[in-house]
Amino acid sequence: MTIHTDTAMIRFQDLRQEFVLGNETFTALDGVNLDIADGEFVTVVGPSGCGKSTMLNAAAGLLDPTGGQVLVDNRPVTGPSPRTGVIFQQYALFPWLTVRKNVEFGLELKKVPAAERRVIVDHYLELVGLTRFAEALPKELSGGMKQRCAIARAYAVNPEILLMDEPFGALDALTRVHMQEQLLETWLKERRTVLFVTHDVDEAVYLASRVIVMAARPGRIHKVIPVDLPYPRTADIRLTDEYAKLRAEVWESVYHQPAAHGADDQH
Ligand SMILES: Nc1ncnc2c1ncn2[C@@H]1O[C@H](COP(=O)(O)OP(=O)(O)OP(=O)(O)O)[C@@H](O)[C@H]1O
Ligand SMILES: [Mg+2]
Repeated sequence: MTIHTDTAMIRFQDLRQEFVLGNETFTALDGVNLDIADGEFVTVVGPSGCGKSTMLNAAAGLLDPTGGQVLVDNRPVTGPSPRTGVIFQQYALFPWLTVRKNVEFGLELKKVPAAERRVIVDHYLELVGLTRFAEALPKELSGGMKQRCAIARAYAVNPEILLMDEPFGALDALTRVHMQEQLLETWLKERRTVLFVTHDVDEAVYLASRVIVMAARPGRIHKVIPVDLPYPRTADIRLTDEYAKLRAEVWESVYHQPAAHGADDQH
């Protein structure tokens, strides 16, 4: 299933990730091979604990692979890069900074002038519906609002690559659909490369041009399902037969895999 082309923006090459827990070595990823093309939108689904976040963290340069490597633009990833924006599964905001300052953070690092920063921050705060909370601290926000703040922070620096780990997980259904449409719209305009982890089969099919289905114990790629639906996609596409068929196919391969049965750590 591996497509090796020279245009890969992100390349997982025999990636193996072990974690040592006490006396035991746990294999979180057992040889992952995947090429993601420049400008592609790929979603990753799979049972809890199958290594989705581990895969994303490896691409973000936050792990030291046990074997193999991740290449970005043909260079091995050795640490975090300003080219890559990450939205973590647990919204990692700076608790001592206001919403505005959190979103502004990456722009300050990039030395964007103050006036320009203000325009960019205002734009993204509005996009995620947090304008009124610009001066609030993270502890004053709900879970969904914190997540929207983390999304605004990642979008604001306009990275070439977006790594998103269940970014819409804590959002209510309506906001979630709004954020999905927003993300697709921006992606169509700017063609960032997106690697998006989700538990939601609907979301995986709606957004992606390919869905990567993972299996657990050990974590590995189980199936790659191309989503041959045209962009731009509007909410209506969810009512089509093609969509229903793809959704059923992804559902089947996520929930009817042997390793997913009888697991005690599902959620
Ligand atoms: N830093 C770590 N130290 C030890 N074990 C880890 C570490 N990170 C992940 N693991 C283990 O690796 C496995 C994969 O974890 P990971 O977080 O990648 O799963 P996931 O697919 O993202 O799950 P979920 O859907 O619940 O978020 C899990 O069994 C987890 O316990
Ligand atoms: Mg995870």
